[in-house]
Amino acid sequence: MAAAINAFLLLVVASSSFDVTLSFHSLAFITTTHASRFNSNKNARGKKSTAIFALPELLASSLPLLAPSSSAAVDGHGVSLISPQVLTEFASAAMTYLSLIAYFDRPRGSLTIPNAESTLQVRPSHVPNAGLGLFTTQSLSKGTILGTYPGVLRPANTFYDGKGRNFPQAIGYSWRFTDNKYVIDPTDSQGNIQDVCLGGSSEVPFSNTIFSTIFQIWKVNTALCRINEPPIGVGGCNVSARENLDTREVVFELIQDVVPGQELYLDYGLTYDRSMYG
Ligand SMILES: *[C@@H]1O[C@H](CO)[C@@H](O)[C@H](O)[C@H]1NC(C)=O
Repeated sequence: MAAAINAFLLLVVASSSFDVTLSFHSLAFITTTHASRFNSNKNARGKKSTAIFALPELLASSLPLLAPSSSAAVDGHGVSLISPQVLTEFASAAMTYLSLIAYFDRPRGSLTIPNAESTLQVRPSHVPNAGLGLFTTQSLSKGTILGTYPGVLRPANTFYDGKGRNFPQAIGYSWRFTDNKYVIDPTDSQGNIQDVCLGGSSEVPFSNTIFSTIFQIWKVNTALCRINEPPIGVGGCNVSARENLDTREVVFELIQDVVPGQELYLDYGLTYDRSMYG
């Protein structure tokens, strides 16, 4: 929370050194952009948030307050004449925007297996051309929950039309839910997979930056994204993935006892997009 307050103070300070009217217009713009994205989320989930609908109105009602400061800016005294009311409105709008980003674009998923960092190991896969894979360092028994799929939950259409088109490799790492409404995207802003997912969404102004700076603490480990399908001929899988369409979580569980030093293989299910494998 301290980080969020700092960010908000920074925003206020930054905005007062520019032309305030301009900053306000752009804030109104980005908030409206953001709100429309969330409205489509809302439709997909059938829920309603009045806070989101109130945003554009809040901003519209704040704009007239800027008139005195923008005319004063001409004679060079703009900053000192911003009324406390304007600052309060701006602060509240900035805070709302920050909280919306924090809520919707946060990285989800976690490794729940004890001592995950030492029990699981990312290294070159036995699967030809698959890059890295996930290996165990210990025996683990059937039924062990490894964790939930990491990444940012995004509406599937936004993802496939936007980031997925610009960075097709991101599709290969993203989990598409069987109802095709959402994906979990663990990749960075360039569509590449890193050891951790910081969160953020490329379609939303400032989102990636906010998560790679002030909300960095929320990062999640991406080891589970490394689990490949078994190469042809190897046979079975040791891991199953179970979707929860209500919580939008994908739980990874061992469906066999596993031995140290071996690679884990996942049953990706029927809907996984395998076009990336050529
Ligand atoms: C997972 O199953 C495959 C196929 O049976 C096997 O080759 C591999 O060694 C197993 N992995 C572990 C960690 O036991």
